Amino acid sequence: MSDAIKVGFVPLATAARGILVVFCDDALKVGPATSKTLGGAAELVKRAAAAAAFKGKNGAALDILAPEGLKAERLIVIGTGKVSGLKGNDFLKFGGIAAGKLKAGSASMSIVAELPEGAMSTEQAVAIASGLRLRGYKFDRYKTKKKDGEEGALRADVSLAVDDVAAAKKAFAAAGAVVDGVIIARDLVNEPPNVLYPEEFARRASQLRKLGVKIEVLDVKAMQKLGMGALLGVGQGSARPSRTVIMRWDGGKKGDAPVAFVGKGVCFDTGGISIKPAGSMEDMKGDMGGAACVVGLMHALAARKAKVNVVGAIGLVENMPDGNAQRPGDIVTSMSGQTIEIINTDAEGRLVLADVLWYVAKKTKPKFMVDLATLTGAIVVALGTDHAGMFSNNDELAQRLLAAGIESGEKVWRLPLGPEYDKLIDSQFADMKNTGGRHGGSITAAQFLQRFVDGTPWAHLDIAGTAMGAPKTDINQSWASGYGVRLLDRLVADHYERK
Ligand code: BES
Ligand code: MN
Ligand code: ZN
Repeated sequence: MSDAIKVGFVPLATAARGILVVFCDDALKVGPATSKTLGGAAELVKRAAAAAAFKGKNGAALDILAPEGLKAERLIVIGTGKVSGLKGNDFLKFGGIAAGKLKAGSASMSIVAELPEGAMSTEQAVAIASGLRLRGYKFDRYKTKKKDGEEGALRADVSLAVDDVAAAKKAFAAAGAVVDGVIIARDLVNEPPNVLYPEEFARRASQLRKLGVKIEVLDVKAMQKLGMGALLGVGQGSARPSRTVIMRWDGGKKGDAPVAFVGKGVCFDTGGISIKPAGSMEDMKGDMGGAACVVGLMHALAARKAKVNVVGAIGLVENMPDGNAQRPGDIVTSMSGQTIEIINTDAEGRLVLADVLWYVAKKTKPKFMVDLATLTGAIVVALGTDHAGMFSNNDELAQRLLAAGIESGEKVWRLPLGPEYDKLIDSQFADMKNTGGRHGGSITAAQFLQRFVDGTPWAHLDIAGTAMGAPKTDINQSWASGYGVRLLDRLVADHYERK
């Protein structure tokens, strides 16, 4: 992991050196402090814009080398488009675009956080700072050699010129905690599966103790005692023992019901006896993206001392085929007492979540539960990589998630649940079966989960398309995206924290 960009804040009028970044709208208008910083170079910008057909469109960038009349070695003008329509996510993207202009080696950059109307709000400026750091992330822990001509790792110092330095520093202490959470989630998903197996995952989650998060790790014996036969059945074909980790952050009022987040943590999914084809099977190291998000989110909430009680729970297993692996046709008994006929051992995520959801619903009586899981290939077919699938038994929770998705840029799209889908997982031998056939595969998977929430307000996010392998973006150049940390941090901040 490398987190190569350090961000600091300075007053708006500060003289700019290194790489200077400024913003203009779609009329090429800049703010007063920017105009002062540019001085005579404003004319140069006009000429360069005309020559490059730069119109200040949202996200477009004009890159001028050795700008005459400026101390800066490079001047980058980023277009905002129409200022009235800008969302929080746009500022994150602007930070990402600026960071994308940095090349390997060390660099310094100054960014004037100003719109044509005047200084950006603290929140907007801090979103730029977050975008810089998110874009700067690179997973290079296992690279031992530099490529020819590479000048070594990027090391950049960026100073963001803002209206209110003290306010920006304070806000970035919180927003930076969320960026750290995203980076933790990305690291976990990027790690190879020989390194990151259930016990090691549990150890990494346990590091949250340093932030005051209470950690409880359930080993196989403890889970047997609880009757978690669905989760344990998945892990029984692996040489690596399964774990469940319960994390608690108590930042809210004593006795207040917590909000709960549950993650699928299949550290590697071979499919088990219903083994997957070889092509791209290596991607199944990322089948713990839900659990990674929950750990990243717990970090974010604890590090920014969120005023809310939160439970994070992750079911950690490895789905392997061996002489002790579960078979198609096996019937397992879940912690809820409901029996499940295994039709396909590759539909393992729902089995893991069944026991963890039930455990959380019964033991912690949460206000709501949101689970995240790289659950179905079908969701990638349906929605691609730009939206996670959302299923919910609660319209208010679903609405709030939709809104948080738009604001954070980590979007969700709601899909239906209903009795006609639910009956597709009835079994002739047990209370239910673990697959419902090809039709509506993401929906029948969600119906399965719903049988284990015991009426608790709940939403399921199928993140198979968004957690990993999505196209690179302005704020993520890595295979793992860390999807969900910012979405759920937003959800909590907007609705569930004590003021
Ligand atoms: N982990 C996979 C889903 C997945 C696929 C995640 C591609 C990310 C990318 C899950 O455990 C799985 O294998 N699901 C099966 C379910 C089927 C057997 C009912 C699937 O989607 O094919
Ligand atoms: Mn599977
Ligand atoms: Zn899986």
